[in-house]
Amino acid sequence: MARLKVAVLISGRGSNLEALIAACSTPGFPAEIALVIANREDAGGLAHAAKANIATRVVPHKSYPSREAFDGALIAALEKSGIELVCLAGFMRLLTPGFVTHWRDRLINIHPSLLPAFPGLDTHERALAAGVRFAGCTVHYVWAEMDSGPIIVQAAVPVLAGDDADTLAARVLIAEHRAYPLALRLIGEGRVTVADERARIDGAAAPAGIVLNPAD
Ligand code: GRF
Repeated sequence: MARLKVAVLISGRGSNLEALIAACSTPGFPAEIALVIANREDAGGLAHAAKANIATRVVPHKSYPSREAFDGALIAALEKSGIELVCLAGFMRLLTPGFVTHWRDRLINIHPSLLPAFPGLDTHERALAAGVRFAGCTVHYVWAEMDSGPIIVQAAVPVLAGDDADTLAARVLIAEHRAYPLALRLIGEGRVTVADERARIDGAAAPAGIVLNPAD
């Protein structure tokens, strides 16, 4: 079966990109990363792509007069490469409604909280301030409102006594590196459908270890 052609959009260090690259290199994985786009030339993650011989493009948002023009350049680059699914992985630009509509049900993101709790920036600080006992991450389809859209996979980790934002972020990041490849695998295998504003998964099993719940 043909593998799903994926692009990953990054702005920074790219540890989730690295996890996706590793997953795609395992035998039988149903997706391949055909393109990595960064909006900053100093994005550390570009090196992970280059090392894996994946095509990279830098599309600097500052070179475009408007968000619409920037997003138009992204769409052109993605379509030129025949991309079927776009994965945001630490991509720090808000996308226009036009972009989101264009890629509807073909655009996913990872956010380091158990959405819909704590969307946006400083998520770990706010989770700690709220005294939650569990934190985690969410892979979701992207809708126009920031950090919203049908949830595909969530992974939970405990909040431990003495945690600060850095220790919690590090624990959540380990879960991210399992959750994002799982979501990509489920989509690549054609097991995720979006209906009635919900993503549904057929027969996904929950791996042991972390709390990882891809059920619908
Ligand atoms: C991750 O925590 C991700 O959830 C958030 O931005 C961070 C990106 O980290 N959206 P990395 O660049 O993948 O290492």
